[in-house]
Amino acid sequence: MSQRPAIQLDHAALRRGDRLLWRDLTLDIEAGEFVAILGPNGAGKSTLLKVLLGLLPLSEGHALVAGKAPRRGSAEVGYVPQQKGFDTDLGARGRDLVTLGVDGHRFGPLGAAGRAARVEAAITAVGAKAYADRPIGRLSGGEQQRLRIAQALVGDPSVLLCDEPLLSLDLNHQRGVVELLDRRRREAGTAVLMVTHEINPVLPYVNRVIYLVDGRVAVGKPDEVLTSARLSSLYGTRVDVLRVRDRIVVLGAETEPHHDHDHFHDSDAGEWHAQ
Ligand SMILES: Nc1ncnc2c1ncn2[C@@H]1O[C@H](COP(=O)(O)OP(=O)(O)OP(=O)(O)O)[C@@H](O)[C@H]1O
Ligand SMILES: [Mg+2]
Repeated sequence: MSQRPAIQLDHAALRRGDRLLWRDLTLDIEAGEFVAILGPNGAGKSTLLKVLLGLLPLSEGHALVAGKAPRRGSAEVGYVPQQKGFDTDLGARGRDLVTLGVDGHRFGPLGAAGRAARVEAAITAVGAKAYADRPIGRLSGGEQQRLRIAQALVGDPSVLLCDEPLLSLDLNHQRGVVELLDRRRREAGTAVLMVTHEINPVLPYVNRVIYLVDGRVAVGKPDEVLTSARLSSLYGTRVDVLRVRDRIVVLGAETEPHHDHDHFHDSDAGEWHAQ
C-alpha cells in the first residue's frame, strides 16, 4: 500500500457553460478511505468522477489520482458508471463483462489462463459465481451490479469510483454491495469514492462525505457534515437532520431548486429528503 494519497484535490472548481458546479474543493483521500459524494440532482457529483477519470479538465485548481494527473484508461482507477440496465436480449454473460475489465497490456504476460484466473477471482470476490455464466440481460439489478463491480475491480485498481451503485437495489442488496466495497478497501487498501442518494446504507462505513449543493461544498466526517446547522448553511434554507435509531432523516431540503423526485422510488425514499 503506498503512502501517497489516492486522490488529491486542491482548490478544484468546475464550470459547465456559465454555471459553476462546485468550487474550493480541497481534500486528500487516503488509500483505503471510503468517501461518499452526496448532493441533489445536477449538483455535479457524476461530473466530479469524470474529472478524476481524466474525461473533463478542471476549470480551476489541481487534481491528482494515484499521484498523477487524471488520465483516461488509467490502470490505477476502476469505475462503476451511473447505472443503465442491460437489454434483456443481451446474450453476453456476466463473465464476458468482467473480462472486458482486464487491461490487456497489464495482464498480457499472464496469458489466457492467467487472465481467466483473474476474472474468476473477481467474480468469486463479489459473490457472483452462481450466475456469472448466465446471460447478463436476464439477471436481477443486484446481480448485474455485482458483476459491474467485479469488472471495475478485476484490474486491481488503487482507486474505485462508483456512481450510484445502490440505485434500484433493495435494502439487502444495498447492504451486500456496501459490505463488498468496505471489504475491498480494508483488504486491498483501495480508496473508494461513491456517489449515492442513499446515505443510510453507507453511513456506518464511510470515513468522510463530500456534500455538493448549488456551487457550495462541505467535506468532513458524516457527524460533522450531516447536521442541521451545516446542511442549512449549505442549502441556504432551513434543513433538519434527525436521528432515528441508527438512521438519519433529512427534512426541509426539498425546496432546493435542482431537486427532483427521480430517485424516490424505493423503500428508503421518504427518509432522505435532502436529495
Ligand atoms: N456536456 C455537458 N455540458 C454542459 N453541462 C453539462 C454537461 N453534462 C452535464 N452537464 C450539467 O452539469 C450538471 C451536473 O451534472 P452531473 O451529471 O454531474 O450531476 P449529478 O450531481 O451527478 O446529478 P444526478 O444526481 O442527477 O446524477 C447538470 O446540471 C448537467 O445538466
Ligand atoms: Mg449523477
